Amino acid sequence: MSNNSASSFPIGIFDSGVGGLSVWRELVKLLPNEAILYVADSANCPYGNKNQDEIIILSDRIVSFLIEQGCKLIVLACNTATAGAIDYLRGKYEVPFVGMEPAVKPAALNSKTGVVGILATAGTFKGRLFNETKERFASDVKVIEQVGEGLVDAVEHGMVDSSETTQLLKSYLQPMLDANVDHLALGCTHYPFLIPQIEKITQNRIIIMDPAPAVAKHTKHLLEENKLDNKNKEKVPFYIFYSTADTATLKRMLTELNIKNYEVQELDI
Ligand code: DGL
Repeated sequence: MSNNSASSFPIGIFDSGVGGLSVWRELVKLLPNEAILYVADSANCPYGNKNQDEIIILSDRIVSFLIEQGCKLIVLACNTATAGAIDYLRGKYEVPFVGMEPAVKPAALNSKTGVVGILATAGTFKGRLFNETKERFASDVKVIEQVGEGLVDAVEHGMVDSSETTQLLKSYLQPMLDANVDHLALGCTHYPFLIPQIEKITQNRIIIMDPAPAVAKHTKHLLEENKLDNKNKEKVPFYIFYSTADTATLKRMLTELNIKNYEVQELDI
């Protein structure tokens, strides 16, 4: 495939569910000419407590599907899948991959109190990249790591405003506030959909860091570097959203995000 024809091919992006839409919306802002295929692995959501072998099998299945559809670059819009599978995927496939990484570096470098919080899944905290970054850039600050157990389900089930979710968030955030955290890095792509609730609890006392805009920037850079960016500005790009289970959650989120020009399909892989 020459890069000339490949440049008009879609970008592939996936997550365990709808969380990756927090990355999708940044990609669309920055890359308005690019067609995008999104896979929500709702049948296997959440990924957070699965072991690495399972994450590799699930991620590999989706990547293989996206490559069959002609995707020219794949974004792992899931911190857990990045932590568990990106090294394997890069070793197996030739397409460029972009992964997620909790913003531990900018959080640590910008902290004035010397205490930062990271909210992520158990799988992400075990990842090589996260631990290397923490060691390299956050050795001079105190890092409070908190697993956001239950938060992915809250987003998937449209329960972000429920009292149960507020209680869960309070139980995760109050110890951080007590420890004088001034930056909170969101290490799961579902969590940006909880930012209004987090802001309410923390009363805007901490800076919340979502890595999605930086990931979109890196994707743009990688497309240009590999001469894969779509230069045809005349055609309106198409967006397809696949779900490996019922499509209702995906449809609800797409309506809430006011997304236009798209198709939703069930995916049996
Ligand atoms: N959005 C995924 C992430 O960024 C959620 C993980 C899960 O499914 O538990 O890690």
